[in-house]
Amino acid sequence: MAQDIHFTLNGDPTTVRTDPGRPLLDVLREDLGLTGTKYGCGEGQCGACSVLIGSERAFSCRTPVSAIAGKPVRTIEGLAAKGELHPVQQAFLEEQAFQCGYCTAGMIMTSVGLLERDSSPDEAGITAAMNGNLCRCCGYSEIRDAVKRAAA
Ligand code: FES
Repeated sequence: MAQDIHFTLNGDPTTVRTDPGRPLLDVLREDLGLTGTKYGCGEGQCGACSVLIGSERAFSCRTPVSAIAGKPVRTIEGLAAKGELHPVQQAFLEEQAFQCGYCTAGMIMTSVGLLERDSSPDEAGITAAMNGNLCRCCGYSEIRDAVKRAAA
């Protein structure tokens, strides 16, 4: 049965009325029109659907929308403010840390969360934090360089 779910989305108080068991990813893309968050595997294996709940990465394909009630959720659409790219977005651009771009939103959200929790992670810390976000174009070294650049 549908319920009202209240949460904060990219800084704005938001309410959706839906089946509480639906994946957050579906609600973001289909109900709220935020298609920057991508569907990859639907099984919590690829990270394309990564969003932040607070500063923690969540795989939105495996997160029932009921789990975000009362919580702050951020998506890629919430990062750029007043026409300025977020420093992590800028770093990905400068390091050319994407090819097809399908994984990029998830990579960036995971990176933002990491740098909020640890502003100067070492290489092992970056690798550990990014584990779970897959890039089929194999751009991992550029992605790691972008995270380092954003941390600098
Ligand atoms: Fe969610 Fe792959 S689509 S982890």
